[in-house]
Amino acid sequence: MTKLTAAITAVGGYVPETRLTNADLEKMVETNDEWIKSRTGISERRILKEPGKASSDMAVPAIQEILRKKNLDPKDIDCIICATSTPDMVFPATANLIGHKIGATNAWGFDLAAACSGFLFALSTGAMYIESGRFKKIIVVGVDKMSAIVDYTDRATCIIFGDGAGAVLLEPSTNGFGVHDSILKSDGSGGEFLHMKAGGSLRPATAETVAAREHYAFQEGKSVFKFAVKGMADVSAELLERNQLTGNDIAWLVPHQANLRIIDATADRMGLSKDKVMINIQKYGNTTAATLPLCLWDWENQLKKGDKLVLAAFGGGFTWGATLVSWAY
Ligand code: UT7
Repeated sequence: MTKLTAAITAVGGYVPETRLTNADLEKMVETNDEWIKSRTGISERRILKEPGKASSDMAVPAIQEILRKKNLDPKDIDCIICATSTPDMVFPATANLIGHKIGATNAWGFDLAAACSGFLFALSTGAMYIESGRFKKIIVVGVDKMSAIVDYTDRATCIIFGDGAGAVLLEPSTNGFGVHDSILKSDGSGGEFLHMKAGGSLRPATAETVAAREHYAFQEGKSVFKFAVKGMADVSAELLERNQLTGNDIAWLVPHQANLRIIDATADRMGLSKDKVMINIQKYGNTTAATLPLCLWDWENQLKKGDKLVLAAFGGGFTWGATLVSWAY
């Protein structure tokens, strides 16, 4: 039997119109453009401002772009995997709401919560469904409306995050294109450094949890940074070694966009020059589960069939990993 691999056959993306610049943040908290740029590489982020709009409203246009590009009927989609930490509601799954909004009436779906590594974990999961031969068209979407959970009085976190969505279509390939290998990791002992204290079953919402600002993302930046620099670089280097590859074999590093210094450390460790690293953190900030597909979206026109890509991420959980992909078109 011919071996099936899961090829990425289309990419779509969406970022909201509203820009939140470093100059805007200077008016909100004690910070400055120079500090933000030198410590993170970020100049501005996009914010979904319209009332009544949620993560699904960004995922929908990203997926519709794919449907348009591939001339696909939404009824042909088998499954939607939505990676997000900011679902529209605790339940039902945002994947179900997205499926309803786009008319994917034959698709099943679910949300996957792995913070900034969400897209990577969802991509691997979707790939296995394709490799099994059971499903033919899977949408993997990474979306986060971080502005819904960012405390805009906390200068250490509000400068990093932005909103956005990116999606890919996975289809079977008999030519070996697509997802080749993944190393995925998680370590719950890191939970204390990046989490939301209330709103879950541990601390359901009360007037007290709201007053204590516990429904916002909490991050101990320095600790996360320390683990992220090592975790993302280690796993990316391990992935190359395991596949007997060097930096020279890699066309593009597609890194999670949390901090330019973490990206640089990973590229250095892999022996990659800067021109082979996708970086759009300056214009979108950290969009959590959307960073990787938004990179693919921005670079789609520069990708060539057969290009080897390493996608790498590190985030809350802790969760981290790296995936080797051979570009299919
Ligand atoms: O995507 C999910 C995973 N998340 C990450 O990977 C994020 C990892 N962490 C980071 O990217 C960095 O830790 C931050 C960008 C969040 C912070 O940068 P840092 O270089 O680690 O800064 P720091 O927290 O060590 O703070 C250094 C100084 C402190 O002042 P003192 O104590 O030295 O006087 C902070 O109070 O910078 C101060 N500071 C700020 N100053 C101006 C913190 N935030 C700001 C700010 N503007 N926005």
